[in-house]
Amino acid sequence: MYEHERLNKVRIWDLPTRIFHWALVLCVTGLAITGTVGGSAMAWHFRFGYAVLALLLFRIIWGLLGGRWSRFAAFLYAPKSLLLHIKGQGRPEHDVGHTPLGALSVFALLGILIAQVGTGLLSDDEISFAGPLTGFVSNASVSLATTYHTEIGKWLLLGLVLLHIAAIFFYLYRKHNLVAPMLHGDKSLAVDVLPSRDDALSRLAALLVLLACAAVAFWVSTLGAPAF
Ligand code: HEM
Repeated sequence: MYEHERLNKVRIWDLPTRIFHWALVLCVTGLAITGTVGGSAMAWHFRFGYAVLALLLFRIIWGLLGGRWSRFAAFLYAPKSLLLHIKGQGRPEHDVGHTPLGALSVFALLGILIAQVGTGLLSDDEISFAGPLTGFVSNASVSLATTYHTEIGKWLLLGLVLLHIAAIFFYLYRKHNLVAPMLHGDKSLAVDVLPSRDDALSRLAALLVLLACAAVAFWVSTLGAPAF
């Protein structure tokens, strides 16, 4: 960076996006632990699963209504932008929120999480625990979902999470701290861009959306036989 470059502090990640991220980290960690321990810990596996369902529903809606850098439209890139970014010739504003490469990992993480939660709702261990939607589909579908959930999806998710954390450390090694903005929301930028909206009203809207998503997740949890 040259000395004459003036840096502007800009809000990039609004508070709802940051809370979403760290709550997701907490719940996915809880899911991995309780899923591995099994037995009575499965009651908490279900609870963390419903929490992730609510968080994912929230993030989908926030991807349409949230702060400008959290909106899907802000990180849906054309393949050409991805190629230019990889060659180091990308546009400066593509380095502000999720970069074209980072966006790929975000969409992959969200997609694999949706598949993991969806198949969890359809899984049955044939001993004591069955997802709330198992009664609505055929035995063959339950068996397929259970196989994916327990033998494929969890490894895909683990691989993506490890890649995600490795990428964050790689950027840190290159003196580019992505973690701090995911904590306080701001980036110091040489490029002039509009900030994400992150005021009391937008945060209240996010809270209402989250409550509605939690209500949907709770309703889903009541659809099947009592699991806990
Ligand atoms: C279970 C583990 C994790 C999952 C499932 C996960 C998932 C995600 C997702 C979905 C996003 C996109 C955020 C959004 O736009 O809504 C994201 C971004 C991010 N995550 Fe994680 N994450 C995990 C662990 C971590 C950890 C441990 C760190 C810190 C060491 C971290 C640091 C970040 C950062 C800095 C970003 C923003 C990246 C950027 O600037 O493009 N994540 N993560």
